[in-house]
Amino acid sequence: MSYAKAFAGKTYWIIGASAGIGRALAEALDDAGAHLILSARDEAALEDLAKGCQSARVLPVDLGERASLERAVEALAGTPLDGVINTAALYDPSRVMDLDPQRLDALIRVNLLGCFAIAQLTPSLLKPGGQLVLFGSVAGYFGLPKGQGYCASKAAVNNLAETLKVELAPQVDVRLVCPGFVKTRLTDKNSFTMPALISPEEAARRTLKGLTGKAFEIHYPKRFTLFMKLFRILPYGLSLKLAAKLR
Ligand SMILES: NC(=O)c1ccc[n+]([C@@H]2O[C@H](COP(=O)([O-])OP(=O)(O)OC[C@H]3O[C@@H](n4cnc5c(N)ncnc54)[C@H](OP(=O)(O)O)[C@@H]3O)[C@@H](O)[C@H]2O)c1
Repeated sequence: MSYAKAFAGKTYWIIGASAGIGRALAEALDDAGAHLILSARDEAALEDLAKGCQSARVLPVDLGERASLERAVEALAGTPLDGVINTAALYDPSRVMDLDPQRLDALIRVNLLGCFAIAQLTPSLLKPGGQLVLFGSVAGYFGLPKGQGYCASKAAVNNLAETLKVELAPQVDVRLVCPGFVKTRLTDKNSFTMPALISPEEAARRTLKGLTGKAFEIHYPKRFTLFMKLFRILPYGLSLKLAAKLR
Protein backbone atom coordinates (compact mmCIF):
# COMPACT_ATOMS: atom_id res chain seq x y z
CA MET A 1 0.00 0.00 0.00
CA SER A 2 1.26 3.46 -0.89
CA TYR A 3 0.53 4.86 2.58
CA ALA A 4 2.12 1.95 4.48
CA LYS A 5 5.55 3.46 5.08
CA ALA A 6 3.93 6.35 7.00
CA PHE A 7 3.05 3.89 9.80
CA ALA A 8 6.28 1.86 10.00
CA GLY A 9 7.68 1.96 13.55
CA LYS A 10 4.73 4.05 14.83
CA THR A 11 2.78 3.03 17.93
CA TYR A 12 -1.04 3.00 17.72
CA TRP A 13 -3.59 2.08 20.40
CA ILE A 14 -6.78 0.64 18.89
CA ILE A 15 -9.82 0.48 21.17
CA GLY A 16 -12.34 -1.85 19.53
CA ALA A 17 -9.66 -4.06 17.97
CA SER A 18 -11.31 -7.45 18.58
CA ALA A 19 -13.69 -7.33 15.59
CA GLY A 20 -14.83 -5.53 12.47
CA ILE A 21 -13.11 -2.37 11.28
CA GLY A 22 -10.90 -2.17 14.39
CA ARG A 23 -9.52 -5.64 13.75
CA ALA A 24 -8.95 -4.89 10.05
CA LEU A 25 -7.15 -1.68 11.04
CA ALA A 26 -4.92 -3.64 13.40
CA GLU A 27 -4.04 -6.11 10.64
CA ALA A 28 -3.32 -3.33 8.15
CA LEU A 29 -1.19 -1.39 10.64
CA ASP A 30 0.68 -4.58 11.49
CA ASP A 31 1.36 -5.15 7.77
CA ALA A 32 2.69 -1.59 7.65
CA GLY A 33 5.14 -2.33 10.49
CA ALA A 34 3.42 -0.46 13.33
CA HIS A 35 3.56 -1.39 17.03
CA LEU A 36 0.09 -2.02 18.40
CA ILE A 37 -1.83 -1.90 21.63
CA LEU A 38 -5.04 -3.85 21.21
CA SER A 39 -8.09 -3.17 23.38
CA ALA A 40 -11.72 -4.30 23.59
CA ARG A 41 -13.60 -6.53 26.06
CA ASP A 42 -12.99 -9.90 24.36
CA GLU A 43 -9.50 -10.79 25.58
CA ALA A 44 -9.41 -14.16 23.77
CA ALA A 45 -10.15 -12.47 20.41
CA LEU A 46 -7.45 -9.88 21.10
CA GLU A 47 -4.89 -12.59 21.99
CA ASP A 48 -5.77 -14.44 18.80
CA LEU A 49 -5.22 -11.24 16.79
CA ALA A 50 -1.97 -10.42 18.61
CA LYS A 51 -0.55 -13.89 17.82
CA GLY A 52 -0.50 -12.97 14.12
CA CYS A 53 1.07 -9.54 14.69
CA GLN A 54 4.77 -8.64 14.74
CA SER A 55 4.52 -6.30 17.74
CA ALA A 56 1.27 -6.18 19.71
CA ARG A 57 0.30 -5.84 23.34
CA VAL A 58 -3.15 -6.90 24.54
CA LEU A 59 -4.81 -4.55 27.01
CA PRO A 60 -8.48 -5.43 27.68
CA VAL A 61 -10.76 -2.42 28.23
CA ASP A 62 -14.48 -2.06 28.82
CA LEU A 63 -15.23 1.38 27.44
CA GLY A 64 -18.59 1.30 29.21
CA GLU A 65 -16.69 1.74 32.49
CA ARG A 66 -14.52 4.81 32.82
CA ALA A 67 -12.44 3.13 35.55
CA SER A 68 -11.46 0.41 33.07
CA LEU A 69 -10.08 3.02 30.65
CA GLU A 70 -8.35 4.81 33.53
CA ARG A 71 -6.55 1.56 34.46
CA ALA A 72 -5.47 1.03 30.85
CA VAL A 73 -4.15 4.60 30.57
CA GLU A 74 -2.16 4.08 33.79
CA ALA A 75 -0.74 0.84 32.37
CA LEU A 76 0.44 2.75 29.28
CA ALA A 77 2.13 5.60 31.14
CA GLY A 78 5.63 5.92 29.70
CA THR A 79 4.59 4.49 26.31
CA PRO A 80 4.48 7.51 23.97
CA LEU A 81 1.81 6.94 21.33
CA ASP A 82 1.58 8.19 17.76
CA GLY A 83 -2.14 7.61 17.74
CA VAL A 84 -5.25 6.43 19.57
CA ILE A 85 -8.02 5.03 17.38
CA ASN A 86 -11.42 4.34 18.90
CA THR A 87 -13.76 2.12 16.90
CA ALA A 88 -15.66 0.66 19.88
CA ALA A 89 -19.42 1.03 19.59
CA LEU A 90 -22.73 -0.74 20.14
CA TYR A 91 -25.66 -0.83 17.70
CA ASP A 92 -29.22 -1.71 18.57
CA PRO A 93 -31.60 -0.96 15.69
CA SER A 94 -35.23 -0.62 16.72
CA ARG A 95 -38.09 1.83 16.81
CA VAL A 96 -37.87 4.31 19.66
CA MET A 97 -40.80 2.78 21.58
CA ASP A 98 -39.16 -0.65 21.43
CA LEU A 99 -35.78 0.48 22.78
CA ASP A 100 -34.80 -1.35 25.95
CA PRO A 101 -33.79 1.38 28.45
CA GLN A 102 -30.86 -0.64 29.85
CA ARG A 103 -29.46 -1.37 26.39
CA LEU A 104 -29.92 2.26 25.41
CA ASP A 105 -28.04 3.30 28.54
CA ALA A 106 -25.17 0.91 27.70
CA LEU A 107 -25.08 2.14 24.10
CA ILE A 108 -24.83 5.81 25.10
CA ARG A 109 -22.20 4.97 27.71
CA VAL A 110 -19.95 3.17 25.22
CA ASN A 111 -20.60 5.18 22.04
CA LEU A 112 -20.67 8.68 23.52
CA LEU A 113 -19.40 8.78 27.10
CA GLY A 114 -16.61 6.41 26.04
CA CYS A 115 -15.44 9.02 23.52
CA PHE A 116 -15.54 11.73 26.19
CA ALA A 117 -13.42 9.52 28.47
CA ILE A 118 -10.94 8.86 25.67
CA ALA A 119 -10.78 12.58 24.87
CA GLN A 120 -10.05 13.41 28.51
CA LEU A 121 -7.70 10.58 29.43
CA THR A 122 -5.61 9.65 26.39
CA PRO A 123 -4.07 12.92 25.09
CA SER A 124 -1.49 12.75 27.90
CA LEU A 125 -0.13 9.56 26.28
CA LEU A 126 0.24 11.09 22.81
CA LYS A 127 3.44 12.47 21.37
CA PRO A 128 3.14 16.14 20.33
CA GLY A 129 0.90 16.25 17.25
CA GLY A 130 -0.23 12.64 17.80
CA GLN A 131 -3.55 11.49 16.34
CA LEU A 132 -6.81 11.01 18.24
CA VAL A 133 -9.17 9.22 15.88
CA LEU A 134 -12.87 8.91 16.68
CA PHE A 135 -15.29 6.81 14.63
CA GLY A 136 -18.53 8.69 14.10
CA SER A 137 -20.81 7.69 11.24
CA VAL A 138 -22.85 8.94 8.32
CA ALA A 139 -25.70 7.76 10.60
CA GLY A 140 -24.90 10.86 12.62
CA TYR A 141 -25.49 13.24 9.69
CA PHE A 142 -29.29 12.98 10.04
CA GLY A 143 -31.73 11.05 12.27
CA LEU A 144 -32.86 7.92 10.47
CA PRO A 145 -35.81 5.61 11.29
CA LYS A 146 -35.03 2.65 13.60
CA GLY A 147 -31.60 4.09 14.37
CA GLN A 148 -32.54 6.46 17.17
CA GLY A 149 -30.07 5.52 19.91
CA TYR A 150 -27.21 4.81 17.53
CA CYS A 151 -27.84 7.80 15.22
CA ALA A 152 -28.12 10.19 18.16
CA SER A 153 -24.93 8.84 19.74
CA LYS A 154 -23.03 9.13 16.44
CA ALA A 155 -24.35 12.67 15.79
CA ALA A 156 -22.94 13.55 19.19
CA VAL A 157 -19.59 11.90 18.41
CA ASN A 158 -19.36 13.81 15.11
CA ASN A 159 -20.08 17.02 17.04
CA LEU A 160 -17.63 16.15 19.85
CA ALA A 161 -14.85 15.50 17.34
CA GLU A 162 -15.42 18.97 15.81
CA THR A 163 -15.02 20.66 19.19
CA LEU A 164 -11.99 18.53 20.07
CA LYS A 165 -10.32 19.35 16.76
CA VAL A 166 -10.35 23.02 17.68
CA GLU A 167 -9.75 22.71 21.44
CA LEU A 168 -6.87 20.23 21.37
CA ALA A 169 -4.92 21.60 18.37
CA PRO A 170 -2.03 21.75 17.76
CA GLN A 171 -0.98 19.35 20.54
CA VAL A 172 -3.41 16.67 19.31
CA ASP A 173 -4.37 15.98 15.68
CA VAL A 174 -8.05 15.02 16.04
CA ARG A 175 -9.67 13.10 13.17
CA LEU A 176 -13.24 11.98 12.57
CA VAL A 177 -13.97 8.85 10.53
CA CYS A 178 -17.47 8.48 9.05
CA PRO A 179 -17.91 5.23 7.15
CA GLY A 180 -20.97 4.33 5.13
CA PHE A 181 -22.02 0.67 5.32
CA VAL A 182 -19.22 -1.79 6.17
CA LYS A 183 -19.87 -5.54 6.41
CA THR A 184 -19.27 -6.42 10.07
CA ARG A 185 -21.19 -8.08 12.90
CA LEU A 186 -22.61 -4.60 13.60
CA THR A 187 -24.31 -4.25 10.21
CA ASP A 188 -25.21 -7.97 10.16
CA LYS A 189 -28.07 -6.79 12.42
CA ASN A 190 -29.60 -4.84 9.51
CA SER A 191 -32.48 -6.55 7.75
CA PHE A 192 -32.40 -4.30 4.65
CA THR A 193 -30.11 -4.29 1.61
CA MET A 194 -27.25 -1.93 2.43
CA PRO A 195 -26.19 0.34 -0.45
CA ALA A 196 -22.49 0.69 -1.33
CA LEU A 197 -21.49 -1.96 1.26
CA ILE A 198 -17.71 -2.37 1.60
CA SER A 199 -15.49 -4.84 3.46
CA PRO A 200 -13.73 -4.04 6.78
CA GLU A 201 -10.40 -4.38 4.94
CA GLU A 202 -11.46 -1.70 2.44
CA ALA A 203 -12.64 0.51 5.33
CA ALA A 204 -9.28 0.06 7.06
CA ARG A 205 -7.37 0.89 3.87
CA ARG A 206 -9.39 4.07 3.32
CA THR A 207 -9.06 5.08 6.97
CA LEU A 208 -5.28 4.71 7.00
CA LYS A 209 -4.94 6.51 3.69
CA GLY A 210 -6.99 9.35 5.18
CA LEU A 211 -4.85 9.45 8.31
CA THR A 212 -1.77 10.12 6.19
CA GLY A 213 -3.55 13.12 4.62
CA LYS A 214 -4.68 16.38 6.17
CA ALA A 215 -8.50 16.16 6.03
CA PHE A 216 -10.28 16.33 9.40
CA GLU A 217 -13.15 14.08 8.29
CA ILE A 218 -12.35 10.79 6.57
CA HIS A 219 -15.55 9.53 4.94
CA TYR A 220 -16.11 6.66 2.52
CA PRO A 221 -17.29 5.38 0.14
CA LYS A 222 -17.90 8.82 -1.37
CA ARG A 223 -20.69 7.59 -3.70
CA PHE A 224 -22.73 6.98 -0.54
CA THR A 225 -21.40 9.51 1.98
CA LEU A 226 -21.85 12.48 -0.38
CA PHE A 227 -25.48 11.45 -0.89
CA MET A 228 -25.95 11.26 2.91
CA LYS A 229 -24.41 14.72 3.32
CA LEU A 230 -27.27 16.02 1.14
CA PHE A 231 -29.66 15.30 4.03
CA ARG A 232 -27.89 17.98 6.07
CA ILE A 233 -28.18 20.74 3.51
CA LEU A 234 -31.72 20.10 2.23
CA PRO A 235 -34.57 21.99 3.90
CA TYR A 236 -36.34 19.81 6.51
CA GLY A 237 -39.44 19.75 4.29
CA LEU A 238 -37.46 17.64 1.82
CA SER A 239 -35.04 15.73 4.05
CA LEU A 240 -37.78 14.50 6.40
CA LYS A 241 -39.80 13.29 3.40
CA LEU A 242 -36.73 11.39 2.18
CA ALA A 243 -36.14 9.92 5.66
CA ALA A 244 -39.78 8.80 5.84
CA LYS A 245 -39.19 6.61 2.78
CA LEU A 246 -36.65 4.63 4.84
CA ARG A 247 -39.22 3.63 7.51
N1 LIG B 1 -20.01 -1.19 10.13
C1 LIG B 1 -20.50 -0.08 9.62
O1 LIG B 1 -21.19 -0.08 8.60
C2 LIG B 1 -20.22 1.25 10.26
C3 LIG B 1 -20.72 2.39 9.61
C4 LIG B 1 -20.45 3.63 10.19
C5 LIG B 1 -19.74 3.71 11.36
N2 LIG B 1 -19.28 2.57 11.96
C6 LIG B 1 -18.54 2.72 13.19
O2 LIG B 1 -17.30 2.06 13.04
C7 LIG B 1 -16.88 1.55 14.30
C8 LIG B 1 -16.55 0.07 14.17
O3 LIG B 1 -17.74 -0.60 13.79
P1 LIG B 1 -17.74 -2.13 13.38
O4 LIG B 1 -18.75 -2.28 12.32
O5 LIG B 1 -16.35 -2.61 13.15
O6 LIG B 1 -18.33 -2.81 14.71
P2 LIG B 1 -18.08 -4.26 15.34
O7 LIG B 1 -17.68 -5.22 14.30
O8 LIG B 1 -19.30 -4.56 16.15
O9 LIG B 1 -16.84 -4.01 16.32
C9 LIG B 1 -17.02 -3.17 17.40
C10 LIG B 1 -15.81 -3.23 18.29
O10 LIG B 1 -16.12 -2.45 19.45
C11 LIG B 1 -15.77 -3.20 20.60
N3 LIG B 1 -16.59 -2.83 21.74
C12 LIG B 1 -17.93 -2.84 21.85
N4 LIG B 1 -18.30 -2.49 23.10
C13 LIG B 1 -17.15 -2.25 23.78
C14 LIG B 1 -16.86 -1.86 25.10
N5 LIG B 1 -17.84 -1.68 26.02
N6 LIG B 1 -15.57 -1.68 25.47
C15 LIG B 1 -14.57 -1.88 24.57
N7 LIG B 1 -14.78 -2.26 23.31
C16 LIG B 1 -16.06 -2.45 22.92
C17 LIG B 1 -16.01 -4.64 20.19
O11 LIG B 1 -15.23 -5.53 20.97
P3 LIG B 1 -15.73 -6.39 22.23
O12 LIG B 1 -17.11 -6.88 21.92
O13 LIG B 1 -14.68 -7.45 22.32
O14 LIG B 1 -15.70 -5.46 23.38
C18 LIG B 1 -15.48 -4.63 18.76
O15 LIG B 1 -14.08 -4.80 18.78
C19 LIG B 1 -18.02 1.85 15.26
O16 LIG B 1 -17.73 3.03 15.96
C20 LIG B 1 -19.21 2.06 14.36
O17 LIG B 1 -20.18 2.90 14.95
C21 LIG B 1 -19.51 1.35 11.43
